[in-house]
Amino acid sequence: MTIILVTGGNRGVGNAIVQAAGTRVRDAIVLVGCRSIENAEESIKNLKELGVPAKIEPLQITITDDMSVTAAVRTVEERYGKLDVLINNAGSFSMPKSDDLTELRENWAQGFDCLVASQYLVTKAFLPLLRKAEWGRVIMISSARGSLARNKSIEMPPTQHMMYNCSKAALNLMTIEFRNAEIREVVNEMDRITFWAANPGYCKTAFNNFRGIKDVLEGAEVTARLLESRRSEIPSGTFWEFEQGNFQQVPW
Ligand SMILES: NC(=O)c1ccc[n+]([C@@H]2O[C@H](COP(=O)([O-])OP(=O)(O)OC[C@H]3O[C@@H](n4cnc5c(N)ncnc54)[C@H](OP(=O)(O)O)[C@@H]3O)[C@@H](O)[C@H]2O)c1
Repeated sequence: MTIILVTGGNRGVGNAIVQAAGTRVRDAIVLVGCRSIENAEESIKNLKELGVPAKIEPLQITITDDMSVTAAVRTVEERYGKLDVLINNAGSFSMPKSDDLTELRENWAQGFDCLVASQYLVTKAFLPLLRKAEWGRVIMISSARGSLARNKSIEMPPTQHMMYNCSKAALNLMTIEFRNAEIREVVNEMDRITFWAANPGYCKTAFNNFRGIKDVLEGAEVTARLLESRRSEIPSGTFWEFEQGNFQQVPW
C-alpha cells in the first residue's frame, strides 16, 4: 500500500489533492491531516459520496503544534510502519491590520512559523518513516509567488502580502536544501527521498476569499502528475505546475 499524508486535507487545495490521490494512485491509503478529526471525517464522507475509491482515513495534525506533530508521527508509525508520501499543504496567515511595527513583526513571525518553520519541522519529524518506504517523497505546496525568476520579471500581479511571497521563496529553497542533504548523506541513490515543490495556481479557496480562477481539482493536478510519475522520471529538487493544460517546470 502507498501511504499518502496530506496536511490540511479537509478543505481547499488539500482536499482536492486527497480526491485526486485517492482516485489516481493505485493501492493508496490517503490520510486527511486535519486540525479537527470531526472536520476530517466530514470531508471523508463527502469524498466517499463522490465515489473516491481509495481508503481515506483521518489523522489529527496541527502543524504549528509540536506535540500534535509528534503524536501524528507516532500514530502513522503504529498504524502503517512507514510513510510513502508527505504532502505539505496546510498553511494560513492573516493580513496585518496596521503599519505598527510591533504588530507587523508579530504578523511576520506567525506567518513564517506556519508557512516555513512548521513545514520544515513536519518534514523533519516524518523523515524516519519516509525512509522506511520503498520510495519516500515529499511535495511542498508552494506558489508561483515564491518564484524569484517570475517576480523578477514583474510578470506577477501586485502582491497581497509580501510576507507570503517571501515564505514561499523560503519553502522553495527548503525543497532544494532537503534534496541536497539527501545527495550528501545518502550514498545509494535508490535510498534517497525525493523532494518536489508544486504550484497549484490561483484556486478558488477560502485562502483568497474564493477569488481564485482555478477549480481546486485543477489546482491538485500538478500534485497528481507528480504522484503518477515513475521513480527518477522527474528529478528531485524541481518545481512544477499545471497551467492551461500543460504540466511544466516553474523557474526557481
Ligand atoms: N488557493 C490558492 O490560490 C493557492 C495558490 C498557491 C498556493 N496555495 C497554497 O495551497 C495550500 C492550501 O491553500 P488553500 O488555498 O487550500 O487554503 P484553505 O482553503 O484556507 O485551506 C487551508 C488548509 O490548511 C489547514 N491549516 C491551516 N493552518 C493549519 C495549521 N496550523 N495546522 C494544520 N492545518 C492547518 C486548514 O485547516 P482548518 O480547516 O482547520 O482551518 C485547511 O485545511 C497553502 O499552502 C497555500 O499557500 C494556494
